[in-house]
Amino acid sequence: MKRKKITIIGAGNVGAACAHWLVVRELGDIVLFDAIDGLAQGKALDLFEATPVDGCDVSIVGTTNYKETANSDIVIIAAGLARKPGMSRDDLLEQNGSIVSFVTQQVVKYSPDAFLLVVTNPLDAMTYVVKQVSGFPKNRVMGMAGMLDTARMRSFIALELQVSVEDVSALVLGGHGLSMLPLARYSTVSGIPLTALMSPEKIDAIIERTRNGGAEIVSFLKTGSAFYAPAAAVGRMVEAILKDKKRILPVAALLEGEYGISGCYVGVPVKLGGQGVEEIIELDLLPEELAAFEKSQQSFRSLIKRLKI
Ligand code: LAC
Repeated sequence: MKRKKITIIGAGNVGAACAHWLVVRELGDIVLFDAIDGLAQGKALDLFEATPVDGCDVSIVGTTNYKETANSDIVIIAAGLARKPGMSRDDLLEQNGSIVSFVTQQVVKYSPDAFLLVVTNPLDAMTYVVKQVSGFPKNRVMGMAGMLDTARMRSFIALELQVSVEDVSALVLGGHGLSMLPLARYSTVSGIPLTALMSPEKIDAIIERTRNGGAEIVSFLKTGSAFYAPAAAVGRMVEAILKDKKRILPVAALLEGEYGISGCYVGVPVKLGGQGVEEIIELDLLPEELAAFEKSQQSFRSLIKRLKI
């Protein structure tokens, strides 16, 4: 059996951390690409030299040449700028829009059958750019955000209740921004509804912290944004596809009528398996939840308008 090939575009903090998770989980051979000469090569070689320590039998090479990414099964797009304190994800729109559009053109030339997993911010808009530029079917173009936001919510719940993170499940839908929709009523600890374990005030505080989770990290780092948790989430999404696990995960997917929305990328629960986004799961949302969804849609549309694509 041939190993899968996974390309990561962008060898910054997110790209390199993605490579690390993928190597540790032995999900496939990895090509780490960066336009800055030496950056991907250096990080890839360093990571390859770590493989004997943990016994990970995968190859990892760094490159500045798109040709080396040819025939990838999955391409992770993590190229672009990260935000700095005081910036919103949307402030990155124009610059990252042109970077993402350019790299997508190169990537699809060499890997016409790949799944494209977008991590660059502003996430939902960048995923749409990749969809438009690639022309790939919607099951093969998706964005990572909901899994990160959900992981943050799970970790805050575990911290508050002093229970294992393993037993906490949560759900965060909507856009990866201020219109994010953490759903406490779909969050449980070993099947026990969160609402039975925590006061409404505590739940509200966790929801607020989840919404600001990205900004909280930016305010500490000052020179960039989160990368360990985003990369861990990417690793699990790649695993779900390559192992055809059919996991139910929040993913930025193209809606075409689901939730009454069309032509937008928004975070929704999907079945993620060997065919990529195999199914979008439509939940019955309460009016105030639908309103948050509507806000996600509006902010997505205003960004797309600014990009003129
Ligand atoms: C975050 C950024 C990366 O949420 O979007 O941390």
